[in-house]
Amino acid sequence: MTAEVQTPLPDAPRRSSPAIGRAPALVQVQRPSPTREVSFAVAKVSPQARRRVSAVLSSGWLTTGTETLEFEREFASFVAAPHAVAVSSCTAAIELSLRALGLRRGAAVLTPTITFCGAVHAIVHAGLRPVFVDVDATTLVPRPDQVAAAGARHRPAAMVVQHMAGYPAPVQALAAAAGLPLSRIVEDAAHGLGSSVDGRQVGSISAATCFSFYATKNLPIGEGGAVTTADPQIAAFVRRARLHGMSKDAWARYLPGGSWEYGVETDGIKANMSDIQAAIGRGQLVHVERWQRRRALLAAQYDHLIGGSAAIDLPPRPATGTHAWHLYIVRLNTMAAPARDVVIASLAQRGVGSSVHFIPAHRFGYFRRLLGEDECTTCPEADAVYPRLLSLPLHPALTRHDVAYVCERLLEACAQPLIA
Ligand SMILES: Cc1ncc(COP(=O)(O)O)c(C=O)c1O
Repeated sequence: MTAEVQTPLPDAPRRSSPAIGRAPALVQVQRPSPTREVSFAVAKVSPQARRRVSAVLSSGWLTTGTETLEFEREFASFVAAPHAVAVSSCTAAIELSLRALGLRRGAAVLTPTITFCGAVHAIVHAGLRPVFVDVDATTLVPRPDQVAAAGARHRPAAMVVQHMAGYPAPVQALAAAAGLPLSRIVEDAAHGLGSSVDGRQVGSISAATCFSFYATKNLPIGEGGAVTTADPQIAAFVRRARLHGMSKDAWARYLPGGSWEYGVETDGIKANMSDIQAAIGRGQLVHVERWQRRRALLAAQYDHLIGGSAAIDLPPRPATGTHAWHLYIVRLNTMAAPARDVVIASLAQRGVGSSVHFIPAHRFGYFRRLLGEDECTTCPEADAVYPRLLSLPLHPALTRHDVAYVCERLLEACAQPLIA
């Protein structure tokens, strides 16, 4: 029997289920029958979500409609933001939010290098130029001095702040270090649903906050995203641009009383959310608070069980704010543990799925060609910590026995003789 060692993914799929996987495995290893299987990610689908989807499927209306509007209303209230616009992905949400800022073509946008590649593509697709910011090797989010250093290389017109793994990035302090007002900050909250920064829930701190409802996220729909904002103009722009730039109620033209006519007001893209996705979202949203508490409990159990190992550095706890615990990322201590990829293979052999978040974006060939080699050699802390990163399973379907099993296997894997 063979097991797959997953390639680093945005948020790696469940090992045993190809259904939510995104990329083929690269490495095949022999696996003795493990006593337990612990998948890296499992998407829980609530009974409420199943019932709502079934109602939508029977309703005769499948794409963007009243279910999406209701989801937007409920999601906005959940994150305490005045407006929410549902879109097809967080990647689209970032692109549309940046475009809503109306920056000049080619303007520099700061982005952490430890982020998902899609978030960097979004900057490029918005007609802007990504500028990579190094990250703190402990929190995995940039420090103000690192933002200031990147801003000194290229005067930024905007910045994407990412709440890596759910760790609350200090939005205001980073904006100040970049010399930018909050109206020029877009938050990538793909991991940040449930985070709060300095007492404020992530959702309306900056100009626009972008969420992901990808299958592994804290609110799993399968695919989907949302922009939340306090700015009605940003909300209106995203609402229009998400559906070909067609005038506001174009989707409603087939409903009773709707008119066939529409205008095209901006160069939009096709990034609307369907009512099927929205129905899943509404049925899942009622569970998110409970799932968040479970994530925090499981993270505490991990801390307790592996905290004493010299081979493992735990994910840091924020001094202020709330961690959303989207991911539980440890840093292996290279002096006391075998190489990270040896540990990943060893966990896979014992039935434990794991992953790596993220390959620093400045290492990818496409961005190196686009931005130039010089621009992509300036993130020493990210480069130093990347080979140490290991994401362990963390999702609400995980039991305490699963976590205990993962920890036992991890400690065993770390105790393997070091290969010189
Ligand atoms: C940090 C981060 N940003 C953006 C995205 C993109 O999200 P989506 O798949 O919804 O486009 C992801 C996805 O994994 C992510 O992890």
